Amino acid sequence: MTSTLITGISELWTLDPALDDPARPGGATEEQVLRDAAVVIEDGTIAWTGPAAEAPSADEVVDVEGRAVLPGWVDSHSHLVFDGDRAAEFEARMAGESYSAGGIGVTTAATRSASDEHLLSLVRGRIAEAVAGGTTTLETKTGYGLTVEHETRAAALLSSLIASGELDEATFLGAHLVPAEFDGREGRPGVEEYVDLVSGEMLAGVAPHVRWVDVFCEEGAFDPEQSGRVLRAGAAAGLGLRVHGNQLGRSGGVALAAELGAASVDHVNHLAAADVEALAATASRPTATGDRPGVLAVDAGPTVATVLPACDLSTRAPLAPARELLDAGAALAIASNCNPGTSYTSSMSFCVTTAVLQMHLTLAEALRAATRGGALALRRTDVGHLGIGARADLHVLDAPAAIHLAYRPGMPLTHQVWRSGIRSA
Ligand code: NIG
Repeated sequence: MTSTLITGISELWTLDPALDDPARPGGATEEQVLRDAAVVIEDGTIAWTGPAAEAPSADEVVDVEGRAVLPGWVDSHSHLVFDGDRAAEFEARMAGESYSAGGIGVTTAATRSASDEHLLSLVRGRIAEAVAGGTTTLETKTGYGLTVEHETRAAALLSSLIASGELDEATFLGAHLVPAEFDGREGRPGVEEYVDLVSGEMLAGVAPHVRWVDVFCEEGAFDPEQSGRVLRAGAAAGLGLRVHGNQLGRSGGVALAAELGAASVDHVNHLAAADVEALAATASRPTATGDRPGVLAVDAGPTVATVLPACDLSTRAPLAPARELLDAGAALAIASNCNPGTSYTSSMSFCVTTAVLQMHLTLAEALRAATRGGALALRRTDVGHLGIGARADLHVLDAPAAIHLAYRPGMPLTHQVWRSGIRSA
């Protein structure tokens, strides 16, 4: 067993779940943020945290010379399996066009024609970018294939990356858009036939490769009834549920996610008081242990409201009401939504900065939402914190305190990234 002591830490955010204050579920307690601290890593997990002056000896010592250390970011929403470029669509949007779901079809055409090798190298490149920015746990989705063959190919690619330890969670998003060949014209099948395909043959092909099923419940994509059919079929296949909901309007996605016990509903830009209440009401739903250490059951626990600040900015959408959601008692996560259409960035630091500056979260609330919040949205207990036994995923900032993330917006503050106790960036 090899051990590494990381010392010289000016500010250590353990966010240790054992030290949570139930009265302040969205922030951090004083005990969860240590000063002049050190961490010991053994076999890829956290073995000790405490004052640097009391640190035990270890095989290797790394001095971070007065820098702040956080848990690595947990990015619970991304769409990395794609080829093609939509910069022109983005530019038109900045000139006044509005976003619609239709752009997904452009990426789907480019992705279908990419070779397996090319797609794999694109995804690997995007994961490397995310890690370089401090992300150590990453979910990503299918959703730019939209045929049985191409969705299964994307899912198999993701499961191979999970098997090699490069990725953490994979999601089936066959219900991202109704592909053009299902337009219901001139005897061609329509949306109902596509929903049948997604919940039948496509799901059967993809399910062995993924832990989650997701739907884009929105005007121009799938309505709540169609979304519900896909989600129920996914649940029957043993998958956990995720929903893209209330991004472009009050789509019914939030209500559906809360009703079906989804682990997360993402976007949540357009919420009425009833939607906020519905999410807050799920916060007391107990979690349940999963089938392996560090993992919770996918079908129990709160429906996490996952906000996507970079997407809100890139689509000039009203910012999701993160402050209101937290104040109401909802569980909150922050994710990047890295994708070619609405949010072409995997920078969780940028998302956290935006959540503080624009969504009116405190730094502690934003840090927690981007670590523990994402972990809850993925039903993981082994990541998102630096409590004893957690995966040794550390984000060392080139700053003495984490508030610099918001105080120095846009500056390159990632100094080192450790994943499973190995320095990766
Ligand atoms: O989460 N909203 C649906 N899916 C993506 C956008 C995908 C695209 O436009 O290519 C999102 O924003």
